Amino acid sequence: MATGNYKAVIIGAGKIAWSLASAFQKAGIEIISVISRHESSAKTLAAKFKIKHYSDNLKNLPAGANLYLFTVPDNKIKPAADKISNLKANYKDIIFIHFSGVESIQALESLSEKGGITGSMHIMQTFPSKEIIPVKKCNAAVEINNPRCKKIFFDIARSLNLKPFSITQKEKTMYHLTGVLASNFLAGNFYAAEYLSGKNITAGKLLSGIALKALENVKNKGAVNALSGPVERGDYNTVKKHIDALNELKNEKELKGNIRLSYIAQSLVLLNVAKTKYGKLSAGHIKIRKLLKSELKKAASR
Ligand SMILES: NC(=O)c1ccc[n+]([C@@H]2O[C@H](COP(=O)([O-])OP(=O)(O)OC[C@H]3O[C@@H](n4cnc5c(N)ncnc54)[C@H](OP(=O)(O)O)[C@@H]3O)[C@@H](O)[C@H]2O)c1
Repeated sequence: MATGNYKAVIIGAGKIAWSLASAFQKAGIEIISVISRHESSAKTLAAKFKIKHYSDNLKNLPAGANLYLFTVPDNKIKPAADKISNLKANYKDIIFIHFSGVESIQALESLSEKGGITGSMHIMQTFPSKEIIPVKKCNAAVEINNPRCKKIFFDIARSLNLKPFSITQKEKTMYHLTGVLASNFLAGNFYAAEYLSGKNITAGKLLSGIALKALENVKNKGAVNALSGPVERGDYNTVKKHIDALNELKNEKELKGNIRLSYIAQSLVLLNVAKTKYGKLSAGHIKIRKLLKSELKKAASR
C-alpha cells in the first residue's frame, strides 16, 4: 500500500512517539489520532503535529484507521492490544506495530486472531526525551509471524528511511542487550565519571575529546583494535591505584559500591578483549586478573 493511503493511530504519547510522529508524517503517512493514558500527553502531541483527534480512552478510536502504532511501555502493549481487540470492530488486514526491542509480537496476538496484520519494529536509536530524534538510516529489527507480511513492514520501515532487517523472537533479547551495552551503559559510565570527578569533568567535556575518538576508533577499526588504557597494557600498578582509590572513597554509599563493582566487572571484560587482541594474556594481564577476581570476592561479601 502506498504510504499516502495509511491512516495511523498512535497509542502512547511518550518519548519515542514524538520522534515517530515526525518520521511517519515526513513519510507522508497521515496520523489521525493519538490515544494516551493522560489526555494532556495526547493533547500536547496532537497539537505539535496538528493531529485533529486525541483521547485518553482506547474506546474513542476514530473510524477509518488502518495502521496502529503501539508506543506504550512494554508491559502495556498486550493490555492495550487486548482492549482494542475487544472493541466491536473489523480488524481484517489492519496493521498493528509495536516498537519494543524485547517484547515479542505475541503481545499483539489478540489482534492477529481478529485478522490483523501484526509485527514489531525496534529502531536501534536512543530516545531519552520527547525531543525529536531523526530515525533516518537507523537499523530497525522487524519481527513478523507471517512471512507473507514481510514486505508490508519492510516497506513501512523504508518509507521512514530506516534500514530494516528480520529478527526472530528468540534473537530479540540478545539484540536488545547490545543496544543497552552500547548506549545505556555509556550514559551510566559518564554518570559515574562525573560523580567521581566531583562534577569537575562533565560528560560534555569528556565527550568532546576522548569518548568521541574512542567511538570513532570502534567504528573504523572495531572494538578490539580500539581498546587502549591500563588493562590493555597490562599495567598492574595503575589498575591497583584505581582500585585503592575506589576502596578509599569515604561515606560508602550504594553508588560508590556500584561504581567499584562496575569497574571490576568491566575491567574483567577488557581482559577478554586484550586476550583477543594479543592472542594470549601477558604476565601483567594475569596479575591484573588475579587482583580483580580477589576484589570481586571482597565486593560480593561486603
Ligand atoms: N526510548 C527509547 O529509547 C526507545 C527505543 C526503542 C524502542 N522503545 C520502545 O518504545 C516504547 C515506548 O517507549 P518510551 O521510551 O517512549 O516510553 P515512555 O516515554 O514511557 O512513553 C510511554 C507512553 O505510554 C503512555 N501509556 C502508558 N500506559 C498506557 C496505557 N495503558 N494506555 C495508553 N497509553 C499509555 C504514557 O502516557 P501518559 O504520558 O499519557 O501517561 C507514556 O507517555 C516501548 O515499547 C519501548 O521499548 C523505546
